[in-house]
Amino acid sequence: MTALSVRDLHKSYGRARVLDGVSLDVAEGTTTAILGASGCGKTTLLRLIAGFDRADGGTIALAGRVVSAVPPEKRSIGYVAQEGALFPHLTVQANIAFGLSRAAGTRAERRHRVAELLDLVRLDASLARRHPHELSGGQQQRVALARALARRPALVLLDEPFSSLDTALRSATRTAVAEALRAERVTTLLVTHDQAEALSLSDEVAVLTRGRFTQVAPAREIYAAPVDLDTARLLGPGTTLPGKADAGAVSCTLGTLRVAQPCPDGDATVFVRPEQLRVTPAAGGNAVVRASGFLGADTVLTVELPDGTLLDARADATVAYTTGERVTVDVVGAVNAYAART
Ligand SMILES: Nc1ncnc2c1ncn2[C@@H]1O[C@H](COP(=O)(O)OP(=O)(O)OP(=O)(O)O)[C@@H](O)[C@H]1O
Ligand SMILES: [Mg+2]
Repeated sequence: MTALSVRDLHKSYGRARVLDGVSLDVAEGTTTAILGASGCGKTTLLRLIAGFDRADGGTIALAGRVVSAVPPEKRSIGYVAQEGALFPHLTVQANIAFGLSRAAGTRAERRHRVAELLDLVRLDASLARRHPHELSGGQQQRVALARALARRPALVLLDEPFSSLDTALRSATRTAVAEALRAERVTTLLVTHDQAEALSLSDEVAVLTRGRFTQVAPAREIYAAPVDLDTARLLGPGTTLPGKADAGAVSCTLGTLRVAQPCPDGDATVFVRPEQLRVTPAAGGNAVVRASGFLGADTVLTVELPDGTLLDARADATVAYTTGERVTVDVVGAVNAYAART
């Protein structure tokens, strides 16, 4: 069943058109990640769905019911705002129980639900008596999520829930949250800037560009075959090269390459991801290492081809590359190419 259905939503602030015909369906129990550049309208969309703002046109339906006339508190939506604010004067217990008062029976039952939620987001029960300022950033984010889940909402909206966390905490919190959402079988709409987050947490990724969703598909599919260059770039780094498409292949400075999806014949822009390039040390190689960045698990190299083209490539971290070293560069698999913009 479709938990959330958005149709042709429009929203402008003054003369600035932010959402220009947004449509999206989210199936019950699934997570959709919205990916888009800063300022493209992600928060605007969540606020319309939550009922905090009004759309200029279009409809929002929850479980098949259009909610234009339904106030936010009656929409059965859990919202974790981009600022993720908890009530500073309330304890963790009181923050999570906020809003449960009438909905969740006796005091003992509410305590039980709070304990269950703390467990769900993997926080120790002893934290219930603390205030937000006595928690780490990651712990605060988890309390905010527990609060959003407390009333067993039909839909949870998460607006960049991990943006304030450092890398290690971010991935631990992300895992805990993903498990909590799965355990409660909640339908989730997650806004993120982070490609890894979008790809790892979601069933579907929805790309918001120029006021509408330009591609909605499972993470793997969208990564392998982005509809356009902007989408390809949003999903991860890559080098663009001028080329010519002809009969299902594209030729460029790297040779004649297979394409992952059809590209019209003629001038094209080729997009090559770092992991699609295989670099091997070779004294007689045609490319030269210009820069090398060790990232722990792998190394990112910038290599220069004889015609001066610079390429970013991912390489084996167990090999120490030095600047100026000669290497060969091969393309692995099919690349994406798009009709060149004139
Ligand atoms: N209340 C408002 N009044 C006027 N303009 C607004 C208002 N809220 C948002 N905007 C503008 O609408 C556009 C979309 O804003 P929004 O907050 O939805 O972006 P976003 O995709 O969430 O960005 P970010 O990734 O930076 O959070 C921006 O240009 C913003 O300046
Ligand atoms: Mg935002």
